[in-house]
Amino acid sequence: MHIDIIAAIPDLVREPLQHSIVGRAQDDGHVSITVHSLHDFGVGKHRQIDDYPFGGGAGMVLKPEPLVRAIEACQPDGNADAVVYLTPDGTPLKQTHANQLSMHEHLILVAGHYKGIDQRVRDHFITHELSIGDYVLSGGELPALVLVDAVVRLVPGVLGDASSALTDSFQDGLLDAPAYTRPAVFRGHEVPSVLRSGNHARIEAWHDEQRLEKTRTRRPDLLNNDTEAPPSTSEASA
Ligand code: ADE
Repeated sequence: MHIDIIAAIPDLVREPLQHSIVGRAQDDGHVSITVHSLHDFGVGKHRQIDDYPFGGGAGMVLKPEPLVRAIEACQPDGNADAVVYLTPDGTPLKQTHANQLSMHEHLILVAGHYKGIDQRVRDHFITHELSIGDYVLSGGELPALVLVDAVVRLVPGVLGDASSALTDSFQDGLLDAPAYTRPAVFRGHEVPSVLRSGNHARIEAWHDEQRLEKTRTRRPDLLNNDTEAPPSTSEASA
């Protein structure tokens, strides 16, 4: 898989991508990631990337020309599977989106800044719009990192233990069971005895019970998701 990230502040994403699972996935050749500075595609001798909004109002808007030039430079043959814009007014990112995007060969992520990007770019060049939560960050760089992490760990071969991505919270709609490691007694607090019983059927039943109970108390919405709209990443057509 190849991922291009177009960012107004590329330094915010470059270094974090070198570490942990995402860093190793690149070292092992499962994924390649290129970070592009939007300023390299800026307009005029000042490489301008933003401008005042038509109609007035606070904040600056990212100009269409630099952004579209950057998107086109990432896909000379128009061959990207998805051009994803990270924005607080996008569809809330769910595990199903990460699963779907992990099956693509080429993703372009657009991290906006300021007051957002020109609507014409959203209408005609962006294929997916995703939000990482109901709060406003200063830009889309950190959300782009979140999406890269969620997607890359699902790319075949990236996780050593292929089953571990499948047992993540949310993969089957439930939160994860509590995890314990040694020592068996820590400051007087004991690990549940069932986990030390060696009885695999009982351990599995305990895990199932804990997952259901945790989901029921913390995220009851996940248990009633029949009424939710079907997962779809498509918010705009290219
Ligand atoms: N850009 C700023 N805030 C964001 C959010 N919550 N999700 C995605 N992109 C954003």
